Amino acid sequence: MRDFISMKDFTKGDILEVLRVAKELEKKNEELLKNKIVGSLFFEPSTRTRLSFTSAAYRLGAKVLGFDSPDATSLKKGESLRDTIKMTEAYSDVIVMRHNRDGAARFAADIAKVPVINAGDGANEHPSQTLLDLYTIEKEFGNIEGKKVAFVGDLKYGRTVHSLTKALEMFNCEFYFIAPEVIQIPEYIVRELEKKNIKYHILNDYKDVLKEIDVLYMTRIQKERFDNQEDYEKVAGVYIIDKESIVGKCKENMIILHPLPRVDEIKIDLDETKHAKYFEQAANGVPTREAIFSVALGLVETLNCEILEK
Ligand code: CP
Repeated sequence: MRDFISMKDFTKGDILEVLRVAKELEKKNEELLKNKIVGSLFFEPSTRTRLSFTSAAYRLGAKVLGFDSPDATSLKKGESLRDTIKMTEAYSDVIVMRHNRDGAARFAADIAKVPVINAGDGANEHPSQTLLDLYTIEKEFGNIEGKKVAFVGDLKYGRTVHSLTKALEMFNCEFYFIAPEVIQIPEYIVRELEKKNIKYHILNDYKDVLKEIDVLYMTRIQKERFDNQEDYEKVAGVYIIDKESIVGKCKENMIILHPLPRVDEIKIDLDETKHAKYFEQAANGVPTREAIFSVALGLVETLNCEILEK
């Protein structure tokens, strides 16, 4: 059994195992989680993460309990996060938690006796999103190794970017961080890349690198994480891509990913182009999260899986 808190806790081998299990589970239905109960604690809003974890649990035969807003819980009466976790571990076999505070998932994992899966903690990390991002890249290109990946938008508060960068480091990828200075990639991530001698570029326009990159990873400017509206307004809408700005100006097989939700950064006219893969990416959340449950609960060995036998 294991927690999924940060991509720092994973080796390349661990990641590839999750992707292999996801691939197997996408091909067939297995009731691996029959008689298991998933505790689903969402302290922050979510569409994809909560619903795809729930769908993954149902597909594997589990039952799900929990909440999608803390307002209907005893937190409103002053109960602590610690006690909320103690209660949930008593009622479930695995906990999926999204929280607005950086580090909340690690805190929960230190308390809980059952595995904890981080479904996003503040601006820190979102490891299950990273695994489905990697699953999508592997599905589209056949491998992840050596890809040139451009992250565009809110790289300061974008937890999906932080987790995905940590994972892609292990696959010898080259990074392009494209953002206004105030929401550029955090210094601690840059220092880590330098320490490992990994190629990266800090830029403020995506147009110059479109011909070089394999993956364009767009992100939303995260209004809710800014200290004030004025600072948000200065960078809102700074990158908007559409069919005209992309088609014919990038590599033929370049893919556009986005963790979603989008606001205005990807125009709808891009959706029907061969480059747009963000809806497939979101759909890949189901097999990937099925694999995450299976690994978290130590059930992979019970899966009759040809790929794992290799
Ligand atoms: N990608 C993602 O985390 O989406 P939700 O906020 O809708 O879960």
